[in-house]
Amino acid sequence: MTAARLVARCVRGLEPALGTEILRTGSAAIDWIGHREVGFRTWARNETWTGHGGSSDGEPRLRTADDVFLLARRQDDIGPHKNDLAGLAELARAVDLEGLARERRTRGGPAVFGGIEVSASFLGRRTYNRYDIEDTVGRVLAERAGVPYHTRRHGEPPPPGHSGWRLTLDGGHATLLLRLGGRPAHRRVYKNATVPGTLHPPVAAAMAQAAELRPGQRVLDPCCGAGTLLIEAHHTVPGVTLLGFDLDPAARRAARQNAGPLPVAVEHGDAGALPVADRSIDRVLCNPPWGAQVDAGGRLAGHPERWWHELARVLTDEGRAILLLPEARGLGHALALGLTPVHVQQLSLFGSRPLLVRLERQRDGRRSRARREAAAR
Ligand SMILES: C[S@@+](CC[C@H](N)C(=O)[O-])C[C@H]1O[C@@H](n2cnc3c(N)ncnc32)[C@H](O)[C@@H]1O
Repeated sequence: MTAARLVARCVRGLEPALGTEILRTGSAAIDWIGHREVGFRTWARNETWTGHGGSSDGEPRLRTADDVFLLARRQDDIGPHKNDLAGLAELARAVDLEGLARERRTRGGPAVFGGIEVSASFLGRRTYNRYDIEDTVGRVLAERAGVPYHTRRHGEPPPPGHSGWRLTLDGGHATLLLRLGGRPAHRRVYKNATVPGTLHPPVAAAMAQAAELRPGQRVLDPCCGAGTLLIEAHHTVPGVTLLGFDLDPAARRAARQNAGPLPVAVEHGDAGALPVADRSIDRVLCNPPWGAQVDAGGRLAGHPERWWHELARVLTDEGRAILLLPEARGLGHALALGLTPVHVQQLSLFGSRPLLVRLERQRDGRRSRARREAAAR
């Protein structure tokens, strides 16, 4: 049986998390990990990788992916000059349109192309722009499929039913992809209500996965906003106890609406003085209100150290926090309170460069050595 070749795209910095998630499915092998993408192949037939339009609950299979595509064509990059665009028209002419349509249908995607829209991106200096790339590829594909082409040049969204294609030029390769689902995987079915500063769901999923959750654990988001982290935690490991606080009633409403029937408790509470017992929380997941979009309110206004103090107070000895922070400065508070950053990863997210940080309680070197020695006796 031939393997289907797929490409999952993600936020810059999440490539290792996405690669790990692909391997953990147990039915795929990775071909390459590149800039914001992981190429892989799967042997399983009729398996839905998007969730949308395929699986019964509409939840995507790869939660850290922004989108999942069939690999239509991959060849050497065409080069930086405008007359190199002819190479892209050739690439589009060589695509096996019927084979792709069949493959997409068997994996839960739409049955027909409807129309063609292309989204392009490139690395390095070129004498053409993204619209030149999109129009070159899109016109050839539309003509071959006998359907309309929608250009993005004028900023209008494509009419519904158009198939989404993606073309990347990364200096090494020209890669043409066809979206598997009817819409991007990062658009979650549950996320109908939103708040300023709300998290991109694939980033929230990567944070939940980094938490290494186990059923029965107590998971807290002290500034839960629209509840994205708690809901992604539930979809990562069902059976965890999920608790969220927020000062803003609109945020609490949004979180409750998004959570729907899921077991997520959302309460009014100030993250600077949480109504939570000492050392009672196994995992904290949070992007605190330090960013440009949301101000810290209540007891946190002008006092970010109170947030850190509460974090250190509520975590159990084996506790762990996975945080998204706009910069490394706050980590000084964590260290002073006995919390060690054991992993730091920079992401690139809508023009900002936040840090995904994993914190654990500092182990007392002498105490753990004594424990090791006692265990050895
Ligand atoms: C960056 S948003 C969190 C977004 C959330 N992770 C999501 O995906 O929607 C920060 C949240 O902190 C809340 N907030 C600000 N000050 C707070 C405080 N003292 N206690 C609790 N929540 C607070 C804001 O109302 C806002 O909803």
